[in-house]
Amino acid sequence: MPDIHRHPQSGFTDQLRAEASRLVSDLADALDDAIVGADERQALPADPDRALQRLAVPLPDQGVGARQALEALLDLQARAGTNTAGPRCYHFVIGGNTPAAHGADLVAAAFDVLTYTWVTSPVGVRLELQALEWLKELLGIPAGMHGVMVTGATMANFVGMAAARQWWGEQLGFDVSETGLSGQPQMPVISTRFLHAASRKVLALQGIGMANIQCVEDGADGLVDLDAFSRALEALDGQPALVVVNAGEVNAGRFDPVAEMMTRAREHNCWLHVDGAFGLFAALSPRTAHLVAGFEGADSITVDGHKWLNVPYDSGYAFVRDHGLMARAFRYSADYLPAENDPRPTLGAIGPESSRRGRGFAVWATLKAYGRDGHRRIIEHCLDLAAHFAGVVDAHPALERMAEVPLNIVAFRYNPGGFDDAGLDDLNRQLGEAVIEDGQFLVGTSKLGERTIFRPAFSNWRTRFEDVEALANRVVELGQQLEQRL
Ligand SMILES: Cc1ncc(COP(=O)(O)O)c(C=O)c1O
Repeated sequence: MPDIHRHPQSGFTDQLRAEASRLVSDLADALDDAIVGADERQALPADPDRALQRLAVPLPDQGVGARQALEALLDLQARAGTNTAGPRCYHFVIGGNTPAAHGADLVAAAFDVLTYTWVTSPVGVRLELQALEWLKELLGIPAGMHGVMVTGATMANFVGMAAARQWWGEQLGFDVSETGLSGQPQMPVISTRFLHAASRKVLALQGIGMANIQCVEDGADGLVDLDAFSRALEALDGQPALVVVNAGEVNAGRFDPVAEMMTRAREHNCWLHVDGAFGLFAALSPRTAHLVAGFEGADSITVDGHKWLNVPYDSGYAFVRDHGLMARAFRYSADYLPAENDPRPTLGAIGPESSRRGRGFAVWATLKAYGRDGHRRIIEHCLDLAAHFAGVVDAHPALERMAEVPLNIVAFRYNPGGFDDAGLDDLNRQLGEAVIEDGQFLVGTSKLGERTIFRPAFSNWRTRFEDVEALANRVVELGQQLEQRL
């Protein structure tokens, strides 16, 4: 007689249980090193590809067990990991992690939190909703707007634009999520040159098409020409349209004239979406709040957490004025799922993800731990870093600042003299590659108008004044070395 209490796989599940009981003690020192060591680890490892080559092996028949697998992972991260939590990563817009947020994310992972609906995690769902309420208070987003957490600003734009597209269809008398777009006209989209690539991607995904975006031309000051914007609105002739206002662009931290665009667009039949991925945090400081004044009139708003809120990846937030549009755009139900009209919250039915992780843990914890004042201090610390770095650039004879610094991004280039603009573009492009190769800093180049620039974005509480001074010195050193090789 087989022993019915002894399942054939018991030996293996016993092994997993034993591993699970040791997991935290096995990892404690390594995690401590990872978190504390973020201040000192190099931004980029030397030759990560060499260490990564060992990944390409066939699937093992017999695994090595958790301890060895995790040791291999830690070793790989030590040899090939980018120190994105550290103080010297200024590429893209990379935020840090507050200790409370980092810890809360580890807690959420420990409990394998599933925030699809109220019953899968009453804690995770309520924490998310409460954290979204606090974010509204923090940023001055109208209390009546409805939020949902997503992976980042791309997906927050996706939520806002999906709600916009649903609204637009309803204006024309059809239900986009029910019947699709076939045979329908295209939804007009008006924005400015500051429109982020993520918004373009979203409009492509939603069947609107990138080529269908009308970006109004620049005026003399490089900002949108408001008269041209008004003309584009008039040309709609009453048709419903989506207007995207960009509160914070990535090359120099500039802003569309938010209030003016909102006022003008409101006179037309437009859905107003504000992409404030990092720029909306300007609202926290009296020094920068004017940049986003008027954004509260939006129909939908994008905010990113893994940038300037300093919570771990991935974490972004969409806010939409009309909850019904979110529910209709993302409707999701089946016999085994909560009913569409269930009054209890199902977050998987108002956003793109169905199963979803406990992002609210980190957001709630950081706002609980540091409050409005702590987060204002992080923002102002980064504003101070940017202002200080701009001063260092201005004072250095071989560096040239390329734009005003309204927020946390400093556009500059290496300019030792003796090169024309085209030569400087080439030099700075090559220097950008040399800086990455060097690995002390993660900072990227972009274009401001025709010119190639560096555009460090300071968004991490860990960054110190000496870090940004060292960046200026290293760019100059590497620039001089590059010149000698030319
Ligand atoms: C204004 C803006 N929108 C959208 C995005 C995309 O954000 P994510 O990478 O979090 O999806 C970014 C990223 O830098 C951004 O700056």
